[in-house]
Amino acid sequence: MKRISAEKAVDLIEDNMIVGLGTGSTVKYALKKIGTRISEGLQIKGIPTSNETKKLALKYNIPLTNLAEHPEIDLTIDGADEINSDLNLIKGGGGALTREKIIAFHSKKLVIVADDSKVVKSLGIDFALPVEVVKFGWETTKKTLETFECICTLRKIFEDPFITDNGNYIIDCEFDRITNPEDLEQKLNMIPGVVENGLFIGLAHKAIVGGSQGIMTLEKEQLAT
Ligand code: 5RP
Repeated sequence: MKRISAEKAVDLIEDNMIVGLGTGSTVKYALKKIGTRISEGLQIKGIPTSNETKKLALKYNIPLTNLAEHPEIDLTIDGADEINSDLNLIKGGGGALTREKIIAFHSKKLVIVADDSKVVKSLGIDFALPVEVVKFGWETTKKTLETFECICTLRKIFEDPFITDNGNYIIDCEFDRITNPEDLEQKLNMIPGVVENGLFIGLAHKAIVGGSQGIMTLEKEQLAT
């Protein structure tokens, strides 16, 4: 399901596009397919959202660039941990949320690829919201996050804290449900020490969702009507 949605999204890529390359196990299929299209003559440049994606892009011979050279991205393909009916998202399961949000913000189109387990009625039901925080004072930042009525856990890999590509920590915040994601996104980012949170509000244009019945496409325009 991940593969069919990712490969479908790659069909949207056209010659000479600047393409944002998301992070995660679904996007991996897209990167492989982009590599195949490049070997067949497609000419694009990609901007990776993580070191992991950069490595894979190099493996698949995807030419890379950066935001300094290309501040406007034509199309970004990225995964998500949760997608609601407004096409708002929780992202950051792979810890790449800050770079992913920067790339999404500067993209003319953000296409989300996912399997149907990611589609939810309310954000926060199944997945803890990742928040990237600077190391300095993280314990106090965590206490402030807990005032939002969530259970907060420092993300670890075995015994050690997980470190993002930006050299920061991730605190995963478990809510019963997130009733007002727009408001929460802004309030969390007001806390000193918070770098970014995994709520992606109003950024996605389309979600290509793979399920046992095939592919379902959610479009922003459809949602607005
Ligand atoms: C990484 C992300 C991923 O896109 C998200 O976690 C989905 O990953 P996967 O495709 O492996 O389920 O936000 O920070």
